[in-house]
Order: sequence, then structure tokens, then C-alpha cells
Amino acid sequence: MPEVSRGPLVGREVELGRLLTLLGEAAAGRPVVALVSGDAGVGKTRLVTELSVEARERGHAVLTGRCAELADTVPYLPLADALRDAAAGPLAGGPLLDALAARPVLSRLLPDVDGGKPPGGDMPGLAQQQLFGAVLGMLSEMAEASPVLLVLEDLHWADRSTRDLVTFLSRALHRERLAIVVTYRTDDMYRRHPLRPVVAELSRLPSVTIVPLGPLDASAMAEHLTSLSGRPLDAAMLESLITRAEGNAYYAEELLAASAAGSELPAGLADLLLARTEKLSPEAQQVLRAAAVTGRRVNDELARQASGLAGPEYDDAVREAVAHQLLVQDDEHGYAFRHALLREAIYGDLLPGERTRLHARLAELLADERRLAEVPGTAAELAHHSLASHDIPGAFAASVAAGREAERLAAPAEAHRHYDLALSLWERVEDPEKLSGMGRGKLAFRSALTAADDGDIPRAVHQLRRLIAFLGEAGSDDPVLFCRASERLSYFLLDIDEDSEAIAAAEAAVDALPEEPPRWERARALATHARALLSMEDVAPARSRAEQALAAARAADAIWVEADSLVTLGQLSEWAGRFEEAVGLFTRALQQARSATVLGVELRAAFQLARAQLESGDLVAASRTAHEGVQRAEDAGVGLAPYGYDLQYVHYLAHYQAGEWVHAQVLADGFATRVTSAAEARLSAMALFLDVARDQAAVAERRTWLQPFFITDHFTEYIGRGLLAEHALWHGDLETAVAEAEATIGASEKWEAGHRLPNAIRPAAVGLCALADQAWQARAAGDAKRASAAAEKASRLVRIAREGAAYPSRPSSVLGVDGRGWLARAEAEWRRAQGDNDPAAWQAVADAFGPVFVYETARSRYRLAEALAEAGRREEAQQELLLAVEVADRIGARPLRSALADLARRARLSERAAPRAAAGRGGAQPGGAAARSPLAGLTDREIEVLRLLAVGQSNREIGAGLFIATKTASVHVSNILAKLGAASRTEAAAIAHAQGLGPPASRNR
Ligand SMILES: Nc1ncnc2c1ncn2[C@@H]1O[C@H](COP(=O)(O)OP(=O)(O)O)[C@@H](O)[C@H]1O
Ligand SMILES: [Mg+2]
Repeated sequence: MPEVSRGPLVGREVELGRLLTLLGEAAAGRPVVALVSGDAGVGKTRLVTELSVEARERGHAVLTGRCAELADTVPYLPLADALRDAAAGPLAGGPLLDALAARPVLSRLLPDVDGGKPPGGDMPGLAQQQLFGAVLGMLSEMAEASPVLLVLEDLHWADRSTRDLVTFLSRALHRERLAIVVTYRTDDMYRRHPLRPVVAELSRLPSVTIVPLGPLDASAMAEHLTSLSGRPLDAAMLESLITRAEGNAYYAEELLAASAAGSELPAGLADLLLARTEKLSPEAQQVLRAAAVTGRRVNDELARQASGLAGPEYDDAVREAVAHQLLVQDDEHGYAFRHALLREAIYGDLLPGERTRLHARLAELLADERRLAEVPGTAAELAHHSLASHDIPGAFAASVAAGREAERLAAPAEAHRHYDLALSLWERVEDPEKLSGMGRGKLAFRSALTAADDGDIPRAVHQLRRLIAFLGEAGSDDPVLFCRASERLSYFLLDIDEDSEAIAAAEAAVDALPEEPPRWERARALATHARALLSMEDVAPARSRAEQALAAARAADAIWVEADSLVTLGQLSEWAGRFEEAVGLFTRALQQARSATVLGVELRAAFQLARAQLESGDLVAASRTAHEGVQRAEDAGVGLAPYGYDLQYVHYLAHYQAGEWVHAQVLADGFATRVTSAAEARLSAMALFLDVARDQAAVAERRTWLQPFFITDHFTEYIGRGLLAEHALWHGDLETAVAEAEATIGASEKWEAGHRLPNAIRPAAVGLCALADQAWQARAAGDAKRASAAAEKASRLVRIAREGAAYPSRPSSVLGVDGRGWLARAEAEWRRAQGDNDPAAWQAVADAFGPVFVYETARSRYRLAEALAEAGRREEAQQELLLAVEVADRIGARPLRSALADLARRARLSERAAPRAAAGRGGAQPGGAAARSPLAGLTDREIEVLRLLAVGQSNREIGAGLFIATKTASVHVSNILAKLGAASRTEAAAIAHAQGLGPPASRNR
């Protein structure tokens, strides 16, 4: 840290206290984000420095990064800064380096490290998601070893990607022992400053606290000035300094320094600062001027060369500036201005010609091949200096280079900005092709792609349309680029639901290139065309295009395009009701995408496969596929990106349906409750499956947080409200149950513009159940009118269920197990609503779900038992009831269990098996609950390893504890994860805890 803190900290007890409390929260596993704001010089840096000292004393790992004024185009500067400092500092060698080493994408931010190539594939934005995920993963991993404090200073100067990263982290944190503290200047935040909306958004998050720093009060200022001067100050003098400094600690320091020199004090801080520099030798002033152009952090070598001074002269000059507290030593590479305000004052005072010359000089120095290659961000800085020195060709070339570098660093916003600048300069330079190494079309294409990566699809669409028009006029002399641009345009148009235009664009892309020679671009265009046709539910042409794409991809040796086409073909087979064929195609797609290491396609294939397996009732395969997919997504840091979170819920649902609720609960516990993004909301809604089926307290909190998303996200509304309907049903609130079920059906309609879909079946059945209860109650009360009104409503719902099952838009598709089960349930409830509680209908429900769907089958048996009892078939009723009770007890389905108890009372059935009968059944399933424990499959050794793992030990520690090699321990751990079906150590530990596996007995050695 370059800061000098001469006096003690004054007047910030409250603010420091708040920050320390937050630090304590973080250490306890409730991550926090603090935004420290205030004017320049008011004491933000000082406060967070004090906080960092205290944090280190408490055993936190502290990472600090700063933004720089000239560098809002340098991607991730503060992050790179924090990592670089930490990697060189006391944290090095510890968990930080391990965490870094495991994530090559991050190493790209450090000088001189080759982090491999960015991820391929064509899911826009994946590279950045991956980087963000890697940062989160790294911080979480470090936070397992010790709490972490991440300080990011001067965020008002941050680049867009850094701002996005801060937002991402603030939202993604849930349990990590992590505190993030950012500072920013409020006096610099003009109305349209890009940080403003970010702060507004962040401040709505529950984990975010704003700590504003106001001016110091008079007594704090008096203390500050007195301790700085080292002796009591004359009262009048003190009074005048306090009045003039307006509670600004830095201003006070400068006033004191100037007044000590005995001269007349100029008005205003900038003049005061300049007056101080004017007392220095001309050489020292020259160094300060060069340094002011270099930036807040001054590289020694650069400043020396820019100052034009010879070695010894330069050293003396620097020494002088340091002695006057204008520069401070930063790290081994250079200096920093004592305060940014000083740099700003000196920079502002440069004569125009002088400023241009210095920028030109710096541009010259930075345009060094080695430096450009080794120090991340150099190209962006070079572009800045070239522009400031009016060197248009230099700025043009550097912007292209900076765009490339930003792409490599997964900072699409900056890449786009650089490319766009280069495009705007295109006509002002001579021989732009040579300078940029690419044609104008190619540059425009890159610019558009980076806009899409940055999430700005409309801008990408706009740019691609212009590019296509430009290429068309140019007589299509670059058909390959025309094809690619049209293909991307189609892909993005699909994204914003402009389906018919998307189809036209894809067609144009295909037509742009001949069949021979085979090219991946054409194959890709065919594949996208197939997908576009899929969106129109146009089955035959989609299939023929997908087949052509497959053949073209093979001919061109483009494995990932082949994989993508296979997924599309799989979907088409599924729609045609050829289920096994679909699974086969998805499986092949997955293997190919994996071998081609194209993550986007791999996750798409994994999701489709796992989903299909789930629907077909192969829960074991579904959970395995999804589990592997989740692991891949999380390793790559894209667990919350599309397909990443989809795989998470398929994994969870597979365990939920199979009645493996310990495991399902562990997964659901990882789904945030305080949701702030659509992806999180979808997962939280999914968690309600268990919360409702177990009647857990979490229902209320999840509902509160989900409600806003019911308006903005139909999928969340569909899942969430459907389960809230069931919740109401279990609690006997029939009105609400019907209303929520209706709303859920409404959500499913919005989702696919008016089409009746199979997903309407489930909410219809839930609504039917509530109506059947109402009708039953009305009949019991002798109210025939109410009974028939309920039956009337029920007839509408059963129609909806049947229409959904028929799937009018895909008549040949076949319902999955879940769909068939719920359809049968809807029919059975429909009969019950009419007073015909038919055992055969309920038996059909249980059969439709089948034994694998443990919970749903038990639920069906409950109704079956009830229907049998009503029909006087008591023995059979007793048998079904016991089967359901056994399951409800085992998995902890409390509402079902109390419904069964109620039924047993009403029908005078027993809730316990007669001893003989129990022995018979018990023999088939030895040990009941114990035999089903997820830990049952582990060997004794693995249990021991799991105990140690569950208390947070590393493989090395486990090895040492059990007297085995680290490698052996790691093999045990992988086996345990596989046997438990756990995606991570944390998940395995949670399963162990949930199963009551205690910590190891302490060993005396
Ligand atoms: N509460 C304080 N007590 C003592 N000195 C302070 C206090 N706040 C700031 N300072 C001093 O004032 C100067 C400017 O503070 P700094 O933290 O750099 O301001 P900011 O980061 O808000 O621009 C530094 O020398 C710092 O040590
Ligand atoms: Mg500061």
C-alpha cells in the first residue's frame, strides 16, 4: 500500500465499527459487500487500510486492487492488481496460488502467463461468465481456508467488465466467508456516470451496505491537525485551518504543510497543491509532470524515460518528490502519487502542447513488442496515449490490439469499445488493412460479436445487418464472412424471438457458400437454419436441414457443429415419439461435444440428455448425466449460465423423484433463497418441490423472494406457483389452491404463446384435487348445488389436462412418465370430484408413475387406500396405506404422513404393520431406512475418509491422518463423491452431516 498514515485515525469510530461488524458477519459465513463512498481526500483509503490491518490480525486473507484514472478501458485492472499483489505477497504459496493454479482463465490477468485459449463454442457471453465463475470459485476456495477480505478501490474509474464482475459477485455470494469492500468518489459521480446505476442496483441487495463518509467534524479535524503538526497549534491558526479544510482530511494535511512553509495560502485545493510543487527543483517538477501523464501508479522505468532525465538526475528528483510527500513508494516497480487529487492537479496544469508531447512519448515507450505481449492492459493504455497525442494511425492500430486483448481476457464490453473506436477511425488512416491485420468487414464482425458477448443483442443485430448490407454492396467478395455474419444474425434473432427473420437470415447464410469445398461455416449455417425452423415447429424441413448440417459438418471435419446438429435431430426424434432414438442422439452429441471441448454445445447436449432420461423415468441415468454436466459447468464457472442451472435442477429433480431426499435436500440447500436473478429464481422455485412436500419453513421466505419474478419470468411463475398451489392444498386452503393452479396454467400459456402444452397437466391435476375436496365437502354437507358447481369447474380443468396431454402442436410426441402419472391423477381426481372415487383409477395413477417415482407413487397409494376404504375393501386399503406410510416416514414427507394418519383414523385402519406382515416385508427391504442411507454403499475406509473430508480436511491432511498417501486419499475421495453422487466435496460433506456422520474421534499422537 502506498499510503502514508502519519497520525492516528480520527473521527471514524462509527464507520470503522460498522465495517468491523460486517467483517464479523462475513467470517461467520454470511458474505457482505460494503460500498464506502465519499469525496476525494475524505478518508476512504485510510479507512479501508485500517480495516485491512484489523482483518489481517483476525486471520483474514486480504486482497486489494485499485482502479486507475486513465484506465477505464483496461479490462479488470483492479482484479489483476489484487491478484498480482497477492501472488507476490504474503498470501503466495498458500491457498491463493492453489486456487489460481486451478483456474487458468485467471492467470491470463497476470503478466507473462499463458492461460491457454478462451472457451470455444457459440454461446454468447460464455467466456465472461466463465471468468466471473472462476473469480467466484477462487474466492470461495480461499474462503474455505480463511475468511477473505477483497478491497477494490476507486471503483468510479473502473472499466465496465469490472463493474459487471462486482455486481455478479455481490449477487452470487451466499455462504462464503467473504467480505467485499469497494470505495468510490461521490464528488466525481456526475449524473450519467456509469457507476450510478450499478450502485443503485447493488444497494437493493440484502447483503450490500453503503457506508458513506461525510466530512470529519471539527474536533476530529483538530485532533488530526494537532497530531500531524506534532505540537499544539495556535488556536486562531487551528480555527482557520479547520474552517478552510471543510472536514477533508487530505485538504487539511496539505493546508498544514503549506502553512508550515509560511507562505500565503492560495484559495482552492488544486492551487494549494500546485503551489506546493512549485517549491521543488525543476527536475522534480519534470518528474511529477511525466508521472501525472503516466497515471496514478507510476512505473519507475516509464517515468524515467518519459521525464527525459538522465539516471542520477532522475533519482535525485524522485527522492526530492518523495521527501516532500508528493510521491510515495508503491511496490518494487515504482511510485504512486500521495493522493490522486495531486495527480489531477498537476495533469490539469499541463500546457496543451506539453501534455500532447508527454502522451506521445509514453505511446512510443509503450509500443514495445515485449511489453505489449507481457503486461496485460498495455495495448489499451497505448490506445489511450495515442489518442491523447492525436496520433490517429497509432490509436487505430492500438485499439485493434486492445480489442483483441480484451477478448482474450473475457472483457467483451471493453473489446467492443476498442473495436468500435477502430471502426470509426477506419477512413482516417492510410492502409487500415495493413495496420489492423484485417479487413473492415472482419473488424465490424468482431465488433458485433463482442456486443453480443456483452449481452447487447440488439446492438449486435444492428451491426450485423449493416455489415451484411455493406458486404452485399461490395459484390459479395467475401462470401465466407457474409455466411458467418448472416448465420450469427440468425442466431441472435432467434434469441430475441424474431423467428421468421431468423429463418431468412439462416437461409441466406446457407446460400452464400457452395457445397464444395466443404466448410464448417456452411455446416454451421445449416445447423442454425435447422434450429430456426425448429422454433417454428416446422418438423419436416427442420429435420432435413439438420441432416444436411450433420453431413456437411462431417465433410468439413467440424465435430462441434456435428454435435450441435445431433442435439437438434434428437429433439426432432423426441417430438416424433421416438424416444430411444432421441436418447441415443443426445448421448452421441454429448460425447462429440466433449471430445471437441466446446462447452456451450456440451452443456446443451448434457441438458437435453438428462432431461430426456428424467422424462423417460430413468432417474439413475438422469442424475448421473446431470451430475456430470453440473460438475463440468461448475468447473468452468458457468453453473448459473443457461444449461448450467438447468442441469442443476435436473440433477436435483432426479433425486427428488427417486425419493432420495437427503441428497435432494443437500442440492436444494445450495439454491439461494434471497434470489436476485432469473437463474437463481428458477432454482429457488425448484427447491419448493421439497419444501412443500416436507412442509418446511423455507416456503414462506422463498415465496417472498420469488414473487417479483412471477411477474417477469414465466418459468419461475409456473414452477413456483404450481408448488404454492400444492402447499395450499396440504394446508386445506382449497380456494388458494384453485387460484394458484389457475395462475400456473396461465403461466404455461404465456410461455408458449397460446399453445396447450403437457406442462398444463400437473397444475390442472392439482386444481382438480382441490375441487374434488370441495365437492366432497359440499356433498357431505348435503349442499348439492355447491357440489355440482365444483364439478363444473373441474370439467374445465380436466379438459385442459387432456388437451395438454394431446400436445396439439406436436401430435406424435409421447408423454413422459411424469406427464402420464399426472394425467392419470387428473382423471382420477375428476372422477372423485363427481363423487366417483374409483380404486381402479388410483391404481392406474400408481402404475403410471411406477415404483421408481417413490414419492408420487406413495401419494397415489394414499388416494388408492382412501378409495378402497370407501369401497369397503378394507384389507387392500390397509395394505396400500402401510406401503405409503413406510415411504412417507422414510423420506420425511410430513404432509403426506399426516394425511395418512388422518385417513387411518377416519377409516379405522392401522398405521403400523402387524408383526407378521412386517417381518415379511421387512425381509424384502432389510433395515428400512438404514439400508437406504446414502452412506450404505461406502466401505469402512471410505467412511473414515468422509469423516475427515466433512470437517474440511484437504487430501493431504486426510492422507496424513489415515497414514496413507495423498494420492490414495484423493482416489478414496473421488470414489466417495461418485458413490454419493455428490458434485463437490462440500456437497459430500453436507450429505455426511445430514446423515449424522460425526467428526473423527480425536487422536493423540
Ligand atoms: N480519519 C482519519 N484520521 C486520520 N487521517 C486521515 C483520516 N482520513 C483520512 N486521513 C488522511 O487523509 C489523507 C487522505 O485520505 P485518503 O484515505 O487517501 O482519502 P480518499 O481515499 O477518501 O481520497 C491521507 O493522508 C489519510 O491518511
Ligand atoms: Mg483513496
